[in-house]
Amino acid sequence: MPAPSADEIRDVNARYHDVAAAEYDAKWGISYEEPGRQLVVAKLRKALGGPIRRFDRALEIGSGTGYFSLNLARAGLIGQLTCTDISQGMLDELAGTAGRLGIPVETVCTDAERLPFDDDSFDLVFGHAILHHIPDLDTAFSEFRRVLRPGGRIAFCGEPSHHGDRLAALPKRAALALSPWWRRLLGVGRRVDAWDDAEAVEHGLEHVVDVHAFTPSQLEDFAARAGFGDVRVSGEELVAGWFGWANRTLESTAESRQIPSLWFQYAYRGYMALKAVDDHLLEPALPPAIFYNLLVSAAVPPAGAERARPAARARTVAAAR
Ligand SMILES: C[S@@+](CC[C@H](N)C(=O)[O-])C[C@H]1O[C@@H](n2cnc3c(N)ncnc32)[C@H](O)[C@@H]1O
Repeated sequence: MPAPSADEIRDVNARYHDVAAAEYDAKWGISYEEPGRQLVVAKLRKALGGPIRRFDRALEIGSGTGYFSLNLARAGLIGQLTCTDISQGMLDELAGTAGRLGIPVETVCTDAERLPFDDDSFDLVFGHAILHHIPDLDTAFSEFRRVLRPGGRIAFCGEPSHHGDRLAALPKRAALALSPWWRRLLGVGRRVDAWDDAEAVEHGLEHVVDVHAFTPSQLEDFAARAGFGDVRVSGEELVAGWFGWANRTLESTAESRQIPSLWFQYAYRGYMALKAVDDHLLEPALPPAIFYNLLVSAAVPPAGAERARPAARARTVAAAR
């Protein structure tokens, strides 16, 4: 089969996520309460490499139903929030949840490679599980750089790593094979809608929407080529990732309303226990490339430093000659 074109990837992404939108939060166990807030704030802190200040104007890319941005807004870390996504269905869900939570938000349906915002508009451009869907990342990073003010930051979390993605295929495959027994054990029925995960995998849709898995140096290079400085890449989730992927794959094969709440408690507690192992033992000791998720942050040089940059580059060129 020929590789899909960039336009096909964008089109399938919009359709796939439009269809997924209504059940998305239930499928991924997304919470806008304290547990969700703590997880999201910890991820952003890890990406930025230290304590977080409040960002006056923040732009989320590929915001989906609002997992990241609404939790950050609820934590008081964002002043004015703009959420973008290529799927209007996802943004409609986000707007509904934001309304229920009383969070003011502007939603804009757009491709990450063409941001309809003025230069120097935001203090933070961020996202979760989005970069791997974008066909042309050099164009997207240039757009992130353009709309950021001097001193502004990017922070992207939850990007699949090259090694981690391969390793995660094993628990996914094992869970899919075991799912008939698991459903029988829990007494739940098979999910019947045409676009469930198992069928999406069978029809190869996941392979169309998931365009990249990254090495840490690839992410560093995208940021550096777009003119960012202070680039930082870290990794997270190893054993917690395997556990989470196996459980989510099982859950995606069943009618979610029939899955007993005891199962979700077991899945959540098990994930948190293994995450503590990752956070405290494995992440400090192992290289980022090993983990399932990569996090990248970088900064637009402050105004004075930006003016100095072309001169420094000219000096390097002159010396090379
Ligand atoms: C895996 S979901 C993550 C959603 C959300 N950030 C979260 O963590 O729950 C990826 C999101 O990116 C969006 N997306 C895919 N390709 C995109 C593109 N080229 N530009 C903007 N958004 C895109 C999808 O519609 C989807 O909502």
